[in-house]
Amino acid sequence: MKELSHLEIPARLDLCSWPEVEKYLEHCKGIILPIGSTEQHGPTGAIGTDAFTAQAVALEVGKRSGVLVAPAQAYGMAEHHLGFPGTMSLRPNTLLNLIHDLLVSLARHGFERVFLINGHGGNIATVKAAFAETYKTLSNSDLLTCENFRCKLKNWFMVSDVFKKAQELYGDREGQHATPSEIAITLHLEPSLQLKQVPLPDPSPSGPIYGPKDFRERYPDGRMGSDPYLAKSVHGKLLLDKAANALTQDLSNFLKES
Ligand code: NI
Repeated sequence: MKELSHLEIPARLDLCSWPEVEKYLEHCKGIILPIGSTEQHGPTGAIGTDAFTAQAVALEVGKRSGVLVAPAQAYGMAEHHLGFPGTMSLRPNTLLNLIHDLLVSLARHGFERVFLINGHGGNIATVKAAFAETYKTLSNSDLLTCENFRCKLKNWFMVSDVFKKAQELYGDREGQHATPSEIAITLHLEPSLQLKQVPLPDPSPSGPIYGPKDFRERYPDGRMGSDPYLAKSVHGKLLLDKAANALTQDLSNFLKES
């Protein structure tokens, strides 16, 4: 059996055998779970943006920390984007149950720190609700001894160094959705996406989010105040690095938390 070591990086759960996972748990109880969304990202952005970016940040954090990375949850709560073709959404309740079930699975095996790296603002409320459901399930379970089980949600795009850099690079053209910072990371990861980048007219300004029909009326091309044409793959590399550095530190603190 090949032994997992901190030198073998990034450690991916989907490439491990179960004995390797069992062995890993002897020295580390942490795991990283990337979560994204499959939704429209304006007229030039890839539908998979939120999943690509969350997974890329998670793999970088895994590489730097030696902590195992679970496969990305590529579908999220994107009901308000359903007015645009290609969007595939989970209702909040479905996502809540899904995250709950994944967390309970991990708890059962002895994982005690689950670090979720999120790429989509629409997931935040539901993921937090799923944490509360999970703690309730575990506290009511006599099969599991999971008093030490904890989850943390981190949104890579809200990391302060990322936010500052995005402001510096794009100013108010960063916007709220289909932002140049997230598009830049996709260009870094998948250079073929560069071919889709074309100058766009001024975007609709950022505003409220309601249902899918209202969203499409307010933001007809799917962007909220953003100019993705400003995105460059070199920015993506830099932003990815900033996100991974900060989140590796957060993860290290989380693993040490008493
Ligand atoms: Ni996004």
